[in-house]
Amino acid sequence: MNDLTPTREERIANLKGLGSSRKRVEDARFTQGKGNYVDDIKMPGMLFGDFVRSPYAHARVKSINADAAKAIPGVVAVLTAADLAPLNLHWMPTLAGDKQMVLADGKVLFQGQEVAFVVATDRYIAADAVEKVEVEYEELPVITDPFKALEPDAAVLREDLNGIMSGAHGPRRHHNHIFLWETGDKEATEQALDAAEVVAEEMVYYHRTHPCPLETCGTVASMDKVNGKLTVWGTFQAPHVVRTVASLLSGIEEHNIRVVSPDIGGGFGNKVGVYPGYVCAIVASIVTGKPVKWVEDRMDNLMATAFARDYWMKGRISATKDGKITALHCHVTADHGAFDACADPTKFPAGFFHICTGSYDIPVAYVGVDGVYTNKAPGGVAYRCSFRVTEAAYFIERMIEVLAIELNMDAAELRRINFIRKDQFPYQSALGWEYDSGDYHTAWDKALEAVNYKGLREEQAQRIEDFKAGKTRKLLGIGLTHFTEIVGAGPVKNCDILGMGMFDSCEIRIHPTGSAIARLGTISQGQGHATTFAQIIASEIGLSADSITVEEGDTDTAPYGLGTYGSRSTPVAGAATALCGRKIRAKAQMIAAWLLEVHEGDLEWDVDRFQVKGAPERFKTMKDIAYAAYNQAIPGLEPGLEAVSYYDPPNMTYPFGAYIAVMEIDVDTGEHEVRQFYALDDCGTRINPMVIEGQVHGGATEGYAIAMGQEIAYDEIGNVKTGTLMDFFLPTAWETPHYTTDHTETPSPHHPIGAKGVGESPNVGSVPAFSNAVHDAFRAFGLRQSHMPHDHWRIWKIARNLGLHG
Ligand code: CDP
Repeated sequence: MNDLTPTREERIANLKGLGSSRKRVEDARFTQGKGNYVDDIKMPGMLFGDFVRSPYAHARVKSINADAAKAIPGVVAVLTAADLAPLNLHWMPTLAGDKQMVLADGKVLFQGQEVAFVVATDRYIAADAVEKVEVEYEELPVITDPFKALEPDAAVLREDLNGIMSGAHGPRRHHNHIFLWETGDKEATEQALDAAEVVAEEMVYYHRTHPCPLETCGTVASMDKVNGKLTVWGTFQAPHVVRTVASLLSGIEEHNIRVVSPDIGGGFGNKVGVYPGYVCAIVASIVTGKPVKWVEDRMDNLMATAFARDYWMKGRISATKDGKITALHCHVTADHGAFDACADPTKFPAGFFHICTGSYDIPVAYVGVDGVYTNKAPGGVAYRCSFRVTEAAYFIERMIEVLAIELNMDAAELRRINFIRKDQFPYQSALGWEYDSGDYHTAWDKALEAVNYKGLREEQAQRIEDFKAGKTRKLLGIGLTHFTEIVGAGPVKNCDILGMGMFDSCEIRIHPTGSAIARLGTISQGQGHATTFAQIIASEIGLSADSITVEEGDTDTAPYGLGTYGSRSTPVAGAATALCGRKIRAKAQMIAAWLLEVHEGDLEWDVDRFQVKGAPERFKTMKDIAYAAYNQAIPGLEPGLEAVSYYDPPNMTYPFGAYIAVMEIDVDTGEHEVRQFYALDDCGTRINPMVIEGQVHGGATEGYAIAMGQEIAYDEIGNVKTGTLMDFFLPTAWETPHYTTDHTETPSPHHPIGAKGVGESPNVGSVPAFSNAVHDAFRAFGLRQSHMPHDHWRIWKIARNLGLHG
């Protein structure tokens, strides 16, 4: 050894593996405008599509006249349902077992619905021609309220289902009813509620909103009629599933379809589903033999592609007088819009909403969810949450606050009394989940201490006195939340999308010079997979993360995977990556043994090398081994060093967190100021703390938007009132609060590296924290429940209704 020999610590640091705050490798190109998004794709002879959309929320389509549009020079075709019907493509299956019109077939069911698809040589010509398509509508009664939709004499929305009283998720009890999905023990829950000392009851509404990624949805479809290959570039969060669906719908064999997700400018669930634009672009390319591009504008995106939430959650929670929770009952009226296009695993039409017992040890519970059709856009996607988990977290965290009011108890203490204890994990919830690991009390105590909770409550009490004495017009709200997420779908036996089991995959190839490429079945939309998955591999195989390329999103090269949503990448593909690395290491050990002329069992792994046990100066680094794999004939071993792993997780992972928002609220203007926001996350083993912090900042900002102003609102005749960014609240740096992040680390016992997901936790946790802060500010004046979003007007109304304006 000499001074230049790196120490073990230096070798570990050189890897930039697990736990390193490695800078995001993607950002060099993103920050220089060198990303490659769908709309950057330009091909010779490419055509452009645009939709004629319905101005009405419910109307019969009497006629469509496209003559004037077709007469415009440059217009190549105008497709209607009549053109798609012979191909049986005028309707398409949804992810939720329903079907959806690709183009209006006789009627329209929501404002912005796709009526005709204009194809032209230029994007502007297509837009001009859209204006010239004459559609004759006959207006029909509009239903935007799911409760009214279930009234006996409500208009029939889905005439195609008339008389069909059973759907993909069981019986329908009304013509606008989709399903009733139930879980838990209803009878025992009702008995416990009847016998309880204290019961709190509340309707908690999580309003309709939209993921609104900066890049809207789009595609370029290119049918090469010579070799029979269809290539589709698109904003797809699950490219392999899109390929399978495209094959099933078009009849083109799957090997002749290549689906590519290039850079994606944010997905948040908006880019999971299949939209009419994709189908029409593919059909138009097959018909014309030319590439066809379709990219939504902002209004298209907000009005027509996948909404999120819209859950009316009626809760009853019971407890003993000293605050021990005894039962939870929840009935949800779920507004699914015109078609049931929710993106959930097949067996779970309400997603994982039944994680709604949250972080608490609740002995008995019941959930029933009624899905309902209305004249609103379809969707129901997991907007940065794992399949309705944010609705569940918001519900239970509001119910806890309401129960605290009923018990006249401190809400932090009520939570502490009811947390699942560390020694109870793995914990079987009353609604059927097995929580893998957690230490809620430690996280909670750390959070309360970090914000000086006791001091804040004293300050709040003084503020109330001052307010009553006329010394201030500002109230102080302390918004508490302790959430438990469930992320990482599969397992395959429980979870599938359109029949495809929810596993994921990774393939690693080591090059002779000791660098590598890894391909995964997931696709980053800004989460930094190219950075973090390389770190997992670096720690597993001992090559620096800087020497590892991560590639996702091309079905011709990546192994089959179910994609990225629901924070499933780290729990599922991350596990596949670690196990794939271990396969490489197992072969590397055989090669090293041959090179060192020892038995494999005499070797041990140390950071980046195999060394002889008891003689660490005799070693072969992974780089030496990689070269040997290609340049030496090793008896009994195939040349090369590569592996592939498909991972079916045994369980999901259960990240958790403690979030606290401190808010000043002006009673006279309804304005608020987030004075402090503290976010403690526990996502098990942390791969990249800096990436995690970025995820928390982004997710909490989305949560802030949702809680404090963002919504997709409709008027009574189904007009979308928030269809542009003038009305739809998207926070800028100006509104974004300052965040303090923190963590505890409770590894998942079943994940190969102990990691749980984190991407969605901040959205799940921050929404109830912000909302609880608003509620808490007014608790002393009698507020129990007020629906989000808490914009200035609504907060002002709370103050007025409580008589605080004098
Ligand atoms: O599926 P999605 O990528 O949206 O979510 P995720 O699996 O929670 O990962 C989001 C980002 O955080 C990825 O870059 C992960 O590698 C990173 N992460 C991490 O560094 N440590 C964890 N324990 C979990 C995620």
